[in-house]
Amino acid sequence: MKHELCKVADIPAEGSVLVPFFGRELHVYGSGERIRAAANVCLHFGGPLDCRDGRLVCPWHNAAFDMATGDRVEGPAPKGSRLIFLSTRVEGDALYYVWGE
Ligand code: FES
Repeated sequence: MKHELCKVADIPAEGSVLVPFFGRELHVYGSGERIRAAANVCLHFGGPLDCRDGRLVCPWHNAAFDMATGDRVEGPAPKGSRLIFLSTRVEGDALYYVWGE
């Protein structure tokens, strides 16, 4: 399966862009040489995440996740929980979600 998420040119140099994903949303952003696509969902009770200073932060109870590693860094999300990253690939000028290839 392959599904276009966005154009590479739409990924900001700082912060993230929210892209739709089958009725949900992803935060897409650059992290070093990589492009990351993380589900916009908190690992506590499923709140949305705001992009702030290199972290994705949940406004519901302030869980925070490192954007590079996905690791929970503070807040009530379970210790050891991580952002849900999707597998992606750049082809041409676009970023694709890829699965089962
Ligand atoms: S739902 Fe995100 S911190 Fe509670």
